[in-house]
Amino acid sequence: MKKSLLVLGIESSCDETGIGLVDTERGLLAHRVFSQIDLHAAYGGVVPELASRDHVRRIVPLIRETLAAGECELTALDAIGYTTGPGLAGALLVGAAVAESLGFALQIPAVPIHHLEGHLLSPMLSSDAPVFPFVALLVSGGHTQLMRVSGVGEYALLGESVDDAAGEAFDKTAKLLGLPYPGGPALSRLATQGVPGKFRLPRPMKHSGDLMFSFSGLKTAVLTATRRADFRPEQMADLAAEFQEVVVEVLCVKAREALKQTGLKQLVVAGGVGANARLRERLHQEVGRRGGKVYFPELEYCSDNGAMIAFACAMRLRASHQVERGEGAFAVRPRWPLAEIG
Ligand code: KG4
Ligand code: ZN
Repeated sequence: MKKSLLVLGIESSCDETGIGLVDTERGLLAHRVFSQIDLHAAYGGVVPELASRDHVRRIVPLIRETLAAGECELTALDAIGYTTGPGLAGALLVGAAVAESLGFALQIPAVPIHHLEGHLLSPMLSSDAPVFPFVALLVSGGHTQLMRVSGVGEYALLGESVDDAAGEAFDKTAKLLGLPYPGGPALSRLATQGVPGKFRLPRPMKHSGDLMFSFSGLKTAVLTATRRADFRPEQMADLAAEFQEVVVEVLCVKAREALKQTGLKQLVVAGGVGANARLRERLHQEVGRRGGKVYFPELEYCSDNGAMIAFACAMRLRASHQVERGEGAFAVRPRWPLAEIG
């Protein structure tokens, strides 16, 4: 096997087309993301059929652009990693079809990659990277999970949300406050203008004694607050600030508990909600105070991107030294628990 491998990564699980190019020796060479936010904004959320069609439009030009930026020829590729799930079936199939076709044409392996594995390894793209083992807090639009990560493919689930994910709670609450899609960034921007504590929202499962989360009741609590006779629109920012504080507080308490239970010192935060400034601030404070260290991906690798998929694929290939081509048949897995991968 060659000393270094050149890996293309393709991400198309939801509303971002992402392409990344990673060399197992030199690291990330280039990546490009096309976000469909403008396309879906008019509908207040992702429309799966529109997402798939837009991936079809963007994906090949984006691959060309990424290869050019990385100064690589298509024929120099050794493998292609692509997101197989979890995600929207039609959107996933676009990336899978392109990756498998390219693999067939170039006679190189196309490797199925778990989207959340991409997220949780993404802090390792930074120069100050964590080392195995660590605790990962995955906070995305679809998942809120605490995992013990012992190595590539060695993920043990410690706890997760029993209902809505943290990002989903941000999105749904933002929507009922009349904020534009995507709700997470909009709600956290509004929260910076308010003061937490002026409203008092419940801290769901904060003291449950385990590492489980529940966020679905929060949007109802927010809705109830806005329906009070004395609620004024100027108080929206205070309500947003309190909502954010609750989510951040519960995530911090459980993450701290996960470190305590596992005896580990490093916490890796991954997924879109990892971009939240308040979460970053409080986790740094609270974990730091106990002699631990928190690692966040760079902001550009927090939301969906192809760099993390190329990187996860490169780590897998380096760990297993396997670069064999499959049969060319492929499937996607819209639902796929991370703990099931080996
Ligand atoms: O990881 P991601 O890009 O996609 C999924 O795999 O789900 O995460 C998207 C989620 C959305 O729910 C979005 O509202 C949330 O991350 N998000 C944020 C912020 N930026 C993105 N939530 C809170 N604060 C933010 N700054
Ligand atoms: Zn994601």
